[in-house]
Amino acid sequence: PKVVYVDTAGEGRVIDASVGESVMSAAVRSGVPGIIGECGGCLSCGTCHVWVRDEYLDQVGEVGDMEDDLLDLAVGDRRAGSRLSCQIRMTSELDGLTVDVPDEQV
Ligand code: FES
Repeated sequence: PKVVYVDTAGEGRVIDASVGESVMSAAVRSGVPGIIGECGGCLSCGTCHVWVRDEYLDQVGEVGDMEDDLLDLAVGDRRAGSRLSCQIRMTSELDGLTVDVPDEQV
């Protein structure tokens, strides 16, 4: 399934993710700027923050409790679509998932 990462200039990069792979790890292994994934996906850094586009919010599921806390603590610009991308696992249904990526992780 493909994931589209859009930077703040509106430029999109399409990455082929594997089923079961997280949106963070697909970005990190492909060198998508702005997604760092410092903790490797164990919910302790917040450097994998993205904004999921509205039309995909239902499909990516609910924000978990620990994710919710970390979004409050570690993310500069939390919006309705804010997610930690290490917590979103790709499925074939999510093909085309589009997320906006912050310029930098704070
Ligand atoms: Fe650290 Fe997602 S990679 S919280």
